[in-house]
Amino acid sequence: MPQLLDYPTYAWQVWRGDRSRGELALDACRRADVATYLDVSRSLSILDLANGRLRPQYAILRAQGHRVVGIDLVNRPEHSWTARAYAVARMLFVARLRAPLSVMHPNALVCGDVRRLPFPTDSFDLVTSVAAFEHFLDVPAVVAEVARVLKPGGVIWAAIHVFTAPSGGHNLSFVEVPLRHVPPGVDPWDHLRARRLPFTVPLNEWRIHQYLEVFAQHFMIVKHYCHTREGDHLLTPEIEAELGARGYTRDELTCAAYVIVGQRAV
Ligand SMILES: C[S@@+](CC[C@H](N)C(=O)[O-])C[C@H]1O[C@@H](n2cnc3c(N)ncnc32)[C@H](O)[C@@H]1O
Repeated sequence: MPQLLDYPTYAWQVWRGDRSRGELALDACRRADVATYLDVSRSLSILDLANGRLRPQYAILRAQGHRVVGIDLVNRPEHSWTARAYAVARMLFVARLRAPLSVMHPNALVCGDVRRLPFPTDSFDLVTSVAAFEHFLDVPAVVAEVARVLKPGGVIWAAIHVFTAPSGGHNLSFVEVPLRHVPPGVDPWDHLRARRLPFTVPLNEWRIHQYLEVFAQHFMIVKHYCHTREGDHLLTPEIEAELGARGYTRDELTCAAYVIVGQRAV
């Protein structure tokens, strides 16, 4: 369960600029990864798949002059306290980017389900997605849709929060990235072992090889790598042996974010 202090800590991280620095670091990796296949110096047509309430990559890519569309189930008018808190967080985020507030404008945000993308075939140069694929409950349908809406030669760049990482169950702190501490009374990798803590969001529980297999059905995988490591210090010989007997490797158990880059055939 998210701890009570997570919410103020999250606000503090956005205020201090930690969040924007982390998102800009992801953007730098993406630019480097796709540069061989796309000319990122020109204005690209980009889909941010599951842009989220903070809309971080939507804002960053728009600030760079790209034509960005975001799709997410959360892109609907809301008047709750949570919605107001996110509106403030977005303003702080943009301030830390030193970008105009207009980059957060919702005019290119679509409320929709990523399993049925409401866009014509061959629409986008790049589809990007951060920390979202692990929540999609029908990954094959989403990947097939992404392949349909990408132009020939277009690229998908996906950063996936891996289920097998210590934070992969989304039932521990969401503000420690990478996760360093497990609360007292909770076992590391609880979500793969005793499953005592409930998950707070829908998760497909996929492993890295499953994503790679489905992506490979539609794309040429041009690069894939572990972007963020976590939990090396939590993986005792006992836990490693227990989970190793179930087929989990140290490499997989300590990878928090995995990047897959695929290109649609030209
Ligand atoms: C952890 S958030 C990540 C958001 C954003 N990419 C970020 O990095 O802040 C995952 C997002 O996936 C969205 N999502 C999950 N399933 C979806 C679906 N089937 N269609 C559209 N959005 C979905 C959720 O609404 C949520 O905003």
